[in-house]
Amino acid sequence: MNRPRRNRRTPAIRSMIRETTLAPADFILPLFFHEDAEDTPIAAMPGVTRWSLESLVREAGEAHALGIPAVVLFPKIDESLKTPHAVESFNNDGLVPRAIRALKAAHPTLCVITDVALDPYNSDGHDGIVRRDARGELHILNDETVEVLCSQALCHARAGADIVAPSDMMDGRVAAIRDVLDDDGFTQVSILSYTAKYASAFYGPFRGALDSEPKEGDKKTYQMDPANAREAIRETLLDDAEGSDMLMVKPAGLYLDIIARVRETTTLPIAAYQVSGEYLMLKSAAASGWLDERGIVLESLLAIKRAGADMILTYFAKQACSWIADE
Ligand code: PBG
Repeated sequence: MNRPRRNRRTPAIRSMIRETTLAPADFILPLFFHEDAEDTPIAAMPGVTRWSLESLVREAGEAHALGIPAVVLFPKIDESLKTPHAVESFNNDGLVPRAIRALKAAHPTLCVITDVALDPYNSDGHDGIVRRDARGELHILNDETVEVLCSQALCHARAGADIVAPSDMMDGRVAAIRDVLDDDGFTQVSILSYTAKYASAFYGPFRGALDSEPKEGDKKTYQMDPANAREAIRETLLDDAEGSDMLMVKPAGLYLDIIARVRETTTLPIAAYQVSGEYLMLKSAAASGWLDERGIVLESLLAIKRAGADMILTYFAKQACSWIADE
């Protein structure tokens, strides 16, 4: 008789036949920071903090020491610096370039990834430049936005970013950013494009953390419809052809089918982003006492990896490393 249970009989056998494992090198830690000298706990993300520049460098160092290869930077920009054209997004002395320089100086082997999008800098809270037409309707301008994104990516590259990650979902931005980087001699700077980024209700806590929610309207004319999977293939083929080095699917946990389909479509490495709402769900469930935090977090990360992700952006990165080390 065929008895699959023989392969599950002992921990030794199970460890030999295990198809998927988690390691610190799988994780990318998203970090929030601001201009203030104080660190601020983020209400909707228990255990997550918005750091001062100094604490950001220390926190990134701790993560790197645990084996986490990369961090991705999310700044909270002062309201006074937000404008309709988001010019602060490419200020060479802005918060992000200063953070990149400080991180690279303190931790030369840490891979620094930056978010390329206008929402933290834009007085409208959208990822792109907004124009209101005669009827009062909002339009997110594609090609005008791409020009600003190119300046932003260049600004990050000049400051020493290893990877720029456009999260804006404008059309054609990967090719445009690649051209600008290459023309300026930054041929070594990689692009990790948010390829299949959905207009998800799970970004709520993140927007609260950065005060970056759209002032009006939603992001459905640029982020993808959660109902669509074939469209993710279309975006994958485009980003691959435009020269992206790595692709991203976001959110992660509810989009495992998308990760798996993107995996079949491209040979490029794939990142998946376990977003703020996924973090909050797991944290709340653990806080209720009904579910075991370590168990649900490691299982959620394992599932994302099993679906086909090579890298996982997760707010649990540091905790996951210590849990894995104890196994
Ligand atoms: C914005 C951006 C968002 C996230 C990462 N980059 C929010 C959005 O698109 O509205 C969300 C991350 C999270 O929820 O953890 N460019």
